[in-house]
Amino acid sequence: MAAPLSRPGGGRFVTFEGGEGAGKSTQIKLLAERLEAFGLRTVVTREPGGSPGAEIMRHLVLSGMGKLLGSATESLLFAAARADHVKLVIRPALEQGMWVLCDRFADSTRAYQGYAGQVETQFLDALERVTIGDLKPDLTIVLDLPVETGMRRAAERRGKGAPDRFEGEAVEFHQKLRDAYRQIAEREPERCALIDAESEPSVVAGRVLKVLHDRLLSPSAPAEAIRA
Ligand code: TYD
Repeated sequence: MAAPLSRPGGGRFVTFEGGEGAGKSTQIKLLAERLEAFGLRTVVTREPGGSPGAEIMRHLVLSGMGKLLGSATESLLFAAARADHVKLVIRPALEQGMWVLCDRFADSTRAYQGYAGQVETQFLDALERVTIGDLKPDLTIVLDLPVETGMRRAAERRGKGAPDRFEGEAVEFHQKLRDAYRQIAEREPERCALIDAESEPSVVAGRVLKVLHDRLLSPSAPAEAIRA
């Protein structure tokens, strides 16, 4: 059922989540092209990063420096980046009625630092209160696929380059991530949609569009216009 558009100006906040090699950036790019063709103003952004200050934090955490400090302190670094990104990019775009498509958001901290990194839930709750406040995504697409497939895709993507901070973690860590995302999607079915991401990108894109149409577009938007 299509939900009424509730944000001023009709913008929407859509986040994409998933483990390594799930295909988030490919799917975001395809969705942004489709939304723009449909006449919706769209901003594509990512975490960690998305604003100049947060991009600096991105280099810090992905270099592996945060690992030396432990998962709780590492989550503070992600939180600092998120606070800047929300304030400078996400909130202003939503206030202007734009659609914001974000590659990872607070669920990544829940999955990577919380579930896989064993940082306490109450600590992460407190960080969310100060970084994002009442800013919940309208829709979170969780791209789900077997760990082996995701890790193989991530390895193909980076070629001869070294794995980053999280790509280099053991298979068990990545399995925990998958479990975490499945739990998040199960716990919040109204916000999250778990999508099988093992198929061809065009097939997965079709599934994403169907969820988006069913959950977010106004009843007046013809399904064939957005899904064609
Ligand atoms: P990135 O190169 O963007 O990876 P991906 O293509 O998989 O999204 O690197 C971001 C990494 O940071 C990724 O391994 C997930 C991790 N991460 C966290 O651990 N916590 C967070 O809150 C966020 C936003 C990302």
